[in-house]
This record gives sequence, structure tokens and C-alpha cells, in this order.
Amino acid sequence: MANYTFLYDLKTPETTWRGSGKHTWPSGKVASEAGLITDAVGPHGLYWFLDTIMHEVPEEMRATWQMPHYHVHGYETFFVDSGSLYLFINGQRVLCKPGDIVHLQAGQAHGMLFMEETKWRGTYHDFEVYPENTDIGRVKQFMPELKDDPELNALAYRGEMDSVVLPEPFVYKDVPVEQCLAVKHMDRPHASYEFPGCSVKVLVERWENGGTKELIGAVCEPGFTAEWVKYPKLRELLYVRKGKVKFTILGQEIIADDECILDIPRFAPHKLEVLEKAEIYDVVGQSYWSLFLQAYNSICTLNPDKKTPEYIEKLKKRFDIQIDKIGMK
Ligand SMILES: [Fe+2]
Repeated sequence: MANYTFLYDLKTPETTWRGSGKHTWPSGKVASEAGLITDAVGPHGLYWFLDTIMHEVPEEMRATWQMPHYHVHGYETFFVDSGSLYLFINGQRVLCKPGDIVHLQAGQAHGMLFMEETKWRGTYHDFEVYPENTDIGRVKQFMPELKDDPELNALAYRGEMDSVVLPEPFVYKDVPVEQCLAVKHMDRPHASYEFPGCSVKVLVERWENGGTKELIGAVCEPGFTAEWVKYPKLRELLYVRKGKVKFTILGQEIIADDECILDIPRFAPHKLEVLEKAEIYDVVGQSYWSLFLQAYNSICTLNPDKKTPEYIEKLKKRFDIQIDKIGMK
């Protein structure tokens, strides 16, 4: 029997995490645990998804703890799925809660203070790997006498995650999360497009991702169905954050409920049926949904005569839209 993992149920990390790493506080208490779900692929390192549990920052460290840093080339998008944290960004401090999505751009300084245990699910791209730490570790392994050499240690100014730690803490203003441009939410999309049984929301635009990808979310009612083109050209990672959805992928029936990632390989015929009201995200966002939906909405509003099946088909091809049909059961 052929073998491929279509579904990663993040509710059960013990069966889902393919590799994991831990960081600890100086006291030895666990600070964070990260599990690899899917690997980075290709020149932009797309499809990389990590499931992380961030533990609360110890009480005595909270007054000053910020983790100020930026990533040289990398972008990161985090789903806050439990707990809470303060995000420091753009001179603001905002409290993020479950349902929020934190989007951080290359070169954008940011910091976090986790107030309680938080499910912090991330997808990343354009993270260059600068393995200076690994290379410096090797020097020290062979030549332990250089362990404290400041000249050698100074060569590792970037961390493992393409990141640079900032030397000074942020000065910030406390503002409501709705005022923070880096925090996205299904209730505050850039744009929202309504279809029977489905509301499609543009959450992170391509221009917020260096032109590489977008984040589209859909809120779907029970009975909503979608069928992809016969052989979709793009692999997709879909995140069913809430609800219950029946997928049929390569003839396999798969039920996804809360906190499930679907990894759907390219050329795989597939479709879905929503069983219970669901929130679904296209995590790697390669199709140009935002532009397609703008064009579609423009036709419907300004030029309804143009709305022929042939022209819509042409637009779909132009914007790499892989869904063939939607409807209600
Ligand atoms: Fe970061």
C-alpha cells in the first residue's frame, strides 16, 4: 500500500511531531518545545510548518522580558491557538489571544512575552540557514580550549532562525490588538468575499510576504463542498483550525477536525465537504486568490455581462486557482 501522511492532528503532538527540540530557562524549566510537522521546500523554503508550545515566562522575569529580535530574510506567520502573549511591534504592545494570527515580516523588529502556556503554530518562508552556531560548535568540539574565545563567539551574531537579537528593549504603547497591523484575524480581513455557504477572507496579502505567498482563510457552513481541478499543479497545506471537514484525497476519505493540517500533494485529485462549521486556511498560499477575487468581484459589480463560464475559467487559469467547483450539498 502506498504511503503518505495527509493529515497531521496537532491535538496529539505525540503522534504528529516528526522531530522536536526544547529550550529551557536558566532554572532548567522548559521554556519552549517545538515539533516539526512539514519540511521547508524549494528556494523560498515554503511548506515549513512547526508546532510549538511556548511556556509561560517565569513571574520574576516578566517585567523586563521581551525577546527583541528580527529575521534577516525570513517571514513568519503564527496561529495563536491557546493561551496568551504580549507582542511588541511597531512601538506597540498588544495582547494576543486564541484566534489571532501574528504575521512578521523580514527585517521587522518584534518581541514576545508569553503569559501562559500557548499553542504557537508557525509557518515560515525565506529563512536562510546560517549554520554558524553549528560550525562554531565544531571548532569548540575539536579545540575545547577555544570555548570562551570572544573572537570566535562573535562570529555567531545570527541565531539558528536567521535572527538577530536586538541589544536594547522596546519602548512601547499599550494598544488594543485591533490596532496592530501585524495581528490578523478572521474577523478583521483585508477583504472578504461571500459565496453560498462560504466566506473567503484575505488575511495576509502577498505584499506583506515579499511577493512570495498569501494567507487566505475561509469560514464554511455545514454542507459546503469544494472540488479541485482533476490534477492540481500546486501542493497545498490546509489548516482546519476549527470545525469538521471530510476530505477525499486520492480516493482516501479523511476526516479533519479542530487543529488538523492537511498536506495535499500536487496532482492529487481531491475534494471536501464541510460537516460542521469550519475555519480553513490555505497556509502556503501559492494561488493568487486575492487578485482573482478582486477581479471576480469587479466583474460581478461593474461588468456582469463579462461573467461567462469561459471568462471565469480564463481568470482562474491566470491566477492559478485550483478549485473547479463549489456548492452546497
Ligand atoms: Fe521571530
